[in-house]
Amino acid sequence: MFVLIWATLLFSVRGSNAGASVRERQHCPYGFCITLTEREITAEAGLCVVIPCSFTTPDSFIIQHTVWYKCEPNKQRCDDSDIIFDTNKNNRNVQPGFKGRVSLLESDQSQKNCSIVINDLTASDSGSYQLRVKDVQYWNPNGFTFSSRATVFVKDLSQKPTVMIPPLTEGQQTTLTCTAPGLCSGSVPTITWMWRGTGKNDSHITGDIMTENLAVVTQRHSSTLTFNSSAEHHGTNVTCKVSFTGDTTTEETVTLNVTYMKKPGITEDATVKEGDTLNLTCSVESFPPSLITWTKLGLNTNLQNGIDANLQNDTGLSTLIIPNVTAEHSGRYICTAKHVDSTPTVYVDVTVTWFAKILNGSGCVAQSTVLTCGCISQGVPLPSIKWPLMKNHNEYSVITTVSDHTVNSTITLTVKDHSNTAVECVSSNENGEAKEKLTIIQMNMPEQEGPVQHCRPDSAVLPWAVAGVSLSVNVFSIIYVMFLWNVRKKVKPNEADRTYMSLRKIDQSAEYDVIAPHLN
Ligand SMILES: *[C@@H]1O[C@H](CO)[C@@H](O)[C@H](O)[C@H]1NC(C)=O
Ligand SMILES: *[C@@H]1O[C@H](CO)[C@@H](O)[C@H](O)[C@H]1NC(C)=O
Ligand SMILES: *[C@@H]1O[C@H](CO)[C@@H](O)[C@H](O)[C@H]1NC(C)=O
Ligand SMILES: *[C@@H]1O[C@H](CO)[C@@H](O)[C@H](O)[C@H]1NC(C)=O
Ligand SMILES: *[C@@H]1O[C@H](CO)[C@@H](O)[C@H](O)[C@H]1NC(C)=O
Ligand SMILES: *[C@@H]1O[C@H](CO)[C@@H](O)[C@H](O)[C@H]1NC(C)=O
Ligand SMILES: *[C@@H]1O[C@H](CO)[C@@H](O)[C@H](O)[C@H]1NC(C)=O
Ligand SMILES: *[C@@H]1O[C@H](CO)[C@@H](O)[C@H](O)[C@H]1NC(C)=O
Ligand SMILES: *[C@@H]1O[C@H](CO)[C@@H](O)[C@H](O)[C@H]1NC(C)=O
Repeated sequence: MFVLIWATLLFSVRGSNAGASVRERQHCPYGFCITLTEREITAEAGLCVVIPCSFTTPDSFIIQHTVWYKCEPNKQRCDDSDIIFDTNKNNRNVQPGFKGRVSLLESDQSQKNCSIVINDLTASDSGSYQLRVKDVQYWNPNGFTFSSRATVFVKDLSQKPTVMIPPLTEGQQTTLTCTAPGLCSGSVPTITWMWRGTGKNDSHITGDIMTENLAVVTQRHSSTLTFNSSAEHHGTNVTCKVSFTGDTTTEETVTLNVTYMKKPGITEDATVKEGDTLNLTCSVESFPPSLITWTKLGLNTNLQNGIDANLQNDTGLSTLIIPNVTAEHSGRYICTAKHVDSTPTVYVDVTVTWFAKILNGSGCVAQSTVLTCGCISQGVPLPSIKWPLMKNHNEYSVITTVSDHTVNSTITLTVKDHSNTAVECVSSNENGEAKEKLTIIQMNMPEQEGPVQHCRPDSAVLPWAVAGVSLSVNVFSIIYVMFLWNVRKKVKPNEADRTYMSLRKIDQSAEYDVIAPHLN
């Protein structure tokens, strides 16, 4: 007898072990069997839990109602005060806190599928859940309660919403989507967008909630936020906050990356003195950062780090440094920013200012009483040439010719005796000043000998000397014409290849600047 019981016990243990392989445990007193595939279930507050369940009954048992209880695990049997669900809608004992939150997954009770879903979970939903089935016939007083229970642990919500961000591009409309965690058919959560911008007011936006029915008891809740992306949105944080019933909230923050580019700019310091350092910085604010290259107009290659140029790159800016600049460094410097599929450029025209002394070739030629002096100077900006001698003379003519960076001033005047006349030429621009006493060369009358022989072999004297002499012949008639014209014209000093003439009479303070035809 003992052996038999022991054998039966062994068999039942074996049987239960076989069942445990699918994590089932069956207790089948009187033919009532319950299968709880998950006896311990962990769920999160705000979400839902499914207790998978199926059962069998003896053939004589005609199921009418299914009742679920929740009670303390140490309570021998849950009672009427513990009812959380009853297919009999008239049962007044169902706890109000569970009303509407619990439903059978399979509404056809004849399927003997007792799986339930509990929505809108709170911590107090933790506990052990017990099933009772009721018979039409009031079989074995009013039904059967299964002793096996399922235990649910409700912990704090740890799942976060999912925020989907498509690639954002400045000026384009975009839509962010925030999906609430959990696939539950309970209360619709509140989804709120919070936008924390840099220096801007926080804005709270309640997006449109969309509910997507995935299956009978599963729903996906999401919200969209549509806006036009701009550079200001880059780097800002957008938070999607999901609030479930029972003060359960969860949120996710994303930082927006907006592809954008602002206009490139060059720090203006375009005028540099010869020998100083040229320091140009090109900066482009963009995301992702742009690749900046420097080129110089006329050069075919990009400027590279080298002996005279030094490039310092940083994200979004590149500094071109050329120490000890010379006149050759003047020109147009172009900064090109390569960003995604655009390559805007910006340029700066650099002027290197310099000054050259009074050049060889300057000097005076005296021909009887007519003294003609020429003074040549170079520089950027163009130097202005002054003749201090003129303070003592009433009538003279000055012709100034300009070619590129060279200025050539020729003065013609009448002097009785030039032997004690000192002719000084003063040339100056913002970079310097030079004075030079010009040598006077005596020239005999043209019919006797050619002027060339008496000149220094410096042929540079010739053009202005010849021009000056021929001009002196005409100068008074020109003066007459000048007064007839009564023309006042200003001459811009930086235009190249020009000739202009200034005439001054002591009686009149006005200076007449007349553009004369080119002499060269
Ligand atoms: C119970 O019904 C649900 C919903 O129809 C189903 O997903 C589940 O598989 C069923 N369980 C059993 C054991 O048949
Ligand atoms: C934020 O908004 C409030 C009211 O809308 C306004 O008074 C305040 O000036 C704003 N602050 C900033 C920094 O824009
Ligand atoms: C986005 O910009 C377009 C045109 O630039 C405008 O028609 C549209 O209304 C804007 N959308 C939003 C959400 O501001
Ligand atoms: C955005 O969030 C990140 C961390 O998520 C933080 O480091 C950063 O300071 C935030 N930016 C702003 C503008 O609030
Ligand atoms: C934004 O850009 C930074 C830097 O390129 C990158 O690390 C980050 O993952 C990007 N964030 C998103 C949401 O794309
Ligand atoms: C170039 O200029 C910037 C500011 O304009 C300065 O910070 C930097 O030191 C300069 N670099 C050189 C080599 O002078
Ligand atoms: C800066 O970039 C240029 C080309 O873009 C490169 O030739 C140069 O070596 C870089 N300089 C530094 C200091 O990285
Ligand atoms: C600057 O350049 C000139 C001519 O190229 C040279 O004579 C001078 O030594 C240089 N000065 C410096 C400080 O490099
Ligand atoms: C100018 O003349 C002086 C002496 O006559 C000579 O030493 C110098 O090299 C000359 N300069 C030029 C630029 O011709």
